[in-house]
Amino acid sequence: MAESYWPVFGSKNYESGIPKIGYLDWYVPRLEENRPHNLSLNGMQYEWDIKEIMEDSIYEIANHHIGNLKDPRINVSNRERVDVERVVICHGATQGLHIAICAALANNSDKTVTIAVESPCYAPIVQSPQLFNHEVIKVRRLKPKDSFGHWRIDKQKWLQAIQKSEILMITPILNPSGWDYHSDDREWIVNTCKEHNVIIIADEVYLDTKRRHEEYLPFYKLGEHCISINSLTKVYSLGTIRFGWIIASPKIAEQARRAFITLGGMMGSPTLRIAESVFPHLDIALDKVQEYREKNLPLLRRVLERFDIIWNEPSHGLFGAFKLPYGINAMDFIDRECKNYGVLLVPGNMFEPDLDEWIRVAWSIEPKLFEKAIINLEKALDLAISQKTSQ
Ligand SMILES: Cc1ncc(COP(=O)(O)O)c(C=O)c1O
Repeated sequence: MAESYWPVFGSKNYESGIPKIGYLDWYVPRLEENRPHNLSLNGMQYEWDIKEIMEDSIYEIANHHIGNLKDPRINVSNRERVDVERVVICHGATQGLHIAICAALANNSDKTVTIAVESPCYAPIVQSPQLFNHEVIKVRRLKPKDSFGHWRIDKQKWLQAIQKSEILMITPILNPSGWDYHSDDREWIVNTCKEHNVIIIADEVYLDTKRRHEEYLPFYKLGEHCISINSLTKVYSLGTIRFGWIIASPKIAEQARRAFITLGGMMGSPTLRIAESVFPHLDIALDKVQEYREKNLPLLRRVLERFDIIWNEPSHGLFGAFKLPYGINAMDFIDRECKNYGVLLVPGNMFEPDLDEWIRVAWSIEPKLFEKAIINLEKALDLAISQKTSQ
């Protein structure tokens, strides 16, 4: 049987133990090939000059921070304009998922519960609840029927899942499509969950690409039952320091703080010191997001248009997805024609098995590099399509 790389939904199988995060088995060996034209990176590629930003304080990174550094929650609370009591700092958004689940269930009398998880998704979102033996059920965000516009939810199916669940886990800016919720779907989700006492955990690692736009609307603003998770990884290009945060109601945040201490102990001094130095400069990354979008996207549009590929471009974010023509399989395409021209992309079935003819393409790299990558993507598409059409 072919290897499955997509997120694992379904109850834990005691024989095989903890399910693998399959996409890493596919992705890491390909990253190790160091293909020169990397369009797979779903986070901004901006190189911070940490030495310049930190100056001499860089020599203190391994020294104890307690008593020497201000409360790290303050940077987040100032930036988001929320009370500091609502903020919990953690080791990246992925750890934030575990903490949020524990906090959401802190006062629940059941040991294990049912959790509805949106698909497609980043595998840890659905596999984290299963570490704690919770049952997961799938709710889907669906491709637009006429190929353009928002990916939508089927409210009837979501309602059935919400009625059975204690928690709903979602990724508003969907990986891999890059589309945020239609405002009607968002409002319905928030109201329906509130009505059924369901806590929403929203993984918002891509949401800051919308920060400067009117529609920037993190879930924590939408009610006491909503938890937002974010980090410096994707938009701010600092995944290496593992700095994330949760924003929730004061009651849930207090439980999250206890869960973090239980699961993580304390944050590392290097992480906190680097984050403290970088926070005043975060807008540089947002300038870059805008610049990369303006310079890179026209090149991508032109190539896809040349091949008559439908391109449903999300209005924000760092990546989007398209379906390959002529039934070309995405994994084969990436391992044959793309490899031939040194291009790396991500196949859609890393997020949902149904997306095996879909490609996720990111415009997160510096424009000169992007231009070269697009020239090579064009060659790879040419080759794959001409092979298909000559068969
Ligand atoms: C939806 C989503 N959440 C979280 C992460 C990882 O975030 P962090 O590095 O903060 O754990 C990823 C990485 O691909 C992601 O796609």
